[in-house]
Amino acid sequence: MIKKHFIFLLLALLLLNQIHVNATHEYAPRNIDIGRSSRNILVGSYVGGRSHLKPILDVAAILVERGHNVTLLTSGNYTPSLEYPTIKQITLGPMLNYKEILGTDFHKEFHFEKMVYFAEKSIKDYSQTYEKYKNVAIDYNIDLFICDSHINDACLDIANTLKKPVVTMGAFFPFTARGLHKSDPMFRCNISLENESFLERFKCIIIFPLKLAYMMSPLLTQLNNVREQANVKPIALGNTPKISLHLIDTFFGFELPQSLPPNVQEIGPVLSEEYPSLTPELSNFMNTHDRVLYVAFGTRFHGNTENNDKLLQSFVEAINKKMIDGVIWALAVTPEDSYSSTITLTDGSHIQTSPILNNKHPNIHFAKFAPQFAILNHTNTKLFFTHGGAGSSHESLYTGTPMLVLPFGVDQMGNADKLKSAGVALVLNKFTLDINDIINKTEFLLKDKNIKRNSKRLEVLAKINSKRKYRAADSIEYILHSSSLNEGVDEKFLNEWIPAEFRMGFIKGNNYDLYGTLLGIVLGLISGILWVTFKSINFILKRIIPSFIQKLKKE
Ligand SMILES: *[C@@H]1O[C@H](CO)[C@@H](O)[C@H](O)[C@H]1NC(C)=O
Ligand SMILES: *[C@@H]1O[C@H](CO)[C@@H](O)[C@H](O)[C@H]1NC(C)=O
Ligand SMILES: *[C@@H]1O[C@H](CO)[C@@H](O)[C@H](O)[C@H]1NC(C)=O
Ligand SMILES: *[C@@H]1O[C@H](CO)[C@@H](O)[C@H](O)[C@H]1NC(C)=O
Ligand SMILES: *[C@@H]1O[C@H](CO)[C@@H](O)[C@H](O)[C@H]1NC(C)=O
Repeated sequence: MIKKHFIFLLLALLLLNQIHVNATHEYAPRNIDIGRSSRNILVGSYVGGRSHLKPILDVAAILVERGHNVTLLTSGNYTPSLEYPTIKQITLGPMLNYKEILGTDFHKEFHFEKMVYFAEKSIKDYSQTYEKYKNVAIDYNIDLFICDSHINDACLDIANTLKKPVVTMGAFFPFTARGLHKSDPMFRCNISLENESFLERFKCIIIFPLKLAYMMSPLLTQLNNVREQANVKPIALGNTPKISLHLIDTFFGFELPQSLPPNVQEIGPVLSEEYPSLTPELSNFMNTHDRVLYVAFGTRFHGNTENNDKLLQSFVEAINKKMIDGVIWALAVTPEDSYSSTITLTDGSHIQTSPILNNKHPNIHFAKFAPQFAILNHTNTKLFFTHGGAGSSHESLYTGTPMLVLPFGVDQMGNADKLKSAGVALVLNKFTLDINDIINKTEFLLKDKNIKRNSKRLEVLAKINSKRKYRAADSIEYILHSSSLNEGVDEKFLNEWIPAEFRMGFIKGNNYDLYGTLLGIVLGLISGILWVTFKSINFILKRIIPSFIQKLKKE
């Protein structure tokens, strides 16, 4: 009886459910309009240069599409008009000349100390830079600043002075948000300290930052002096200008994974929607060679003559061994002064370089203009011989091209090690270039199954993460909204995504006061116990035992 009822009930329920599903409901779109109004945004970069600016402009271009006005203020004459016709550029002064700043150190080993040159140059230019930023900010009624995160204090300062929100963007994490177990070859440390010894970790995590602070402190004094001359509030060592959001153009897979506070966001790899296609000449070369090695060291770096000779010889020998059948070498400098006139191959034969440099060799093509993405994107490109710059690495990962990395300086050594540990690249050293080693590594990268598998894995990761530039634009729009609702930047601005530890100071923020107290209590208890034990033993030895012995003697 009960069972029957139950079945009826069940049927009724099913029927009801059916009716519910079959009933036709009207559907209306979800409204995601955030009620935007057009704002004025300034993109500022002291360092400048196309590869440096490109990711920032790719995010800025999305903001322009959404109705905002973007003005670019940067060194040099980078006219984005071709690639970014919607962004207007105002020049900040002549382009920084790396070679001039680094002098003869250009071909030497690169360490963090070299960064001092750049910092000094930026301090020397501070007043002028600040003044330009200020004039543009006022003339264009700027509502938000997007500052390139590299030696760009004037940009951060003007935003803070005018109480406007500031977003920074760069290819690596700010020192304050770097993962707990990460370092960099620039600092003479491994990229990961996971498996390093205690001493090595002590050196990289404790000693190095102290050394850095010691090195930076006179520079900070200089910077604060020029700040005061420009009526900007000085900033004490250990403090930073107020920054609303840090955008980092990288992604785990390439970058080592780490936890992040909400106001530091990984948004890379930032890539453009469209890239220049192959020139007819290159297209012809690519289609008639099916195992192409692409060589490019960016616009700022190049090897010395000795290394260029070695590279050219390696490529000729790799072609002779039929490992590869084509080389495309993108040149930023005139080739004639960078190679010897003859090269001797390992079999003793001599070759003249000048016909090769003039593209007379059937398998080697030198190009003044190389549409890098299109070359990497071509199925016949099997290997990328690169300096390991962030932009080049992203493009190579996106197209699933394995890399042979020859880092020159700055972040390139770290990038090279990251690519190697991701299993998509091998690394060369510019001081110990060896032809057999280059050929061996080339062969390995072309043949190894794991390299192929890892390249595919990272390609997928790069492709899905390349959508995050829209998320970056969303976050910037939120900041614009919040600042207009808030009527500017004040103490409470964006507290909803700044973790408490950033406001609590170093000791409280890390709970060191609590751990310190706990340690104190534990040490106190232990010493208390030790004291009582010591006293008891003392008492036993001095009083009880002697009296016991006396008792025994008496008896
Ligand atoms: C953006 O630029 C356009 C064209 O110059 C101008 O009409 C508009 O007022 C600007 N927007 C803002 C917020 O100033
Ligand atoms: C960094 O550490 C890894 C793993 O512990 C090791 O294989 C690699 O050789 C180290 N790199 C350097 C530059 O010391
Ligand atoms: C450190 O060693 C562990 C265990 O062997 C390994 O799983 C991990 O990948 C290593 N980390 C690095 C960065 O080499
Ligand atoms: C990249 O490759 C795809 C497919 O192979 C092609 O459709 C696209 O046009 C290429 N893009 C560029 C910039 O070369
Ligand atoms: C290159 O590989 C061969 C064999 O695979 C080996 O004999 C040779 O020593 C290697 N050369 C270098 C420089 O590693």
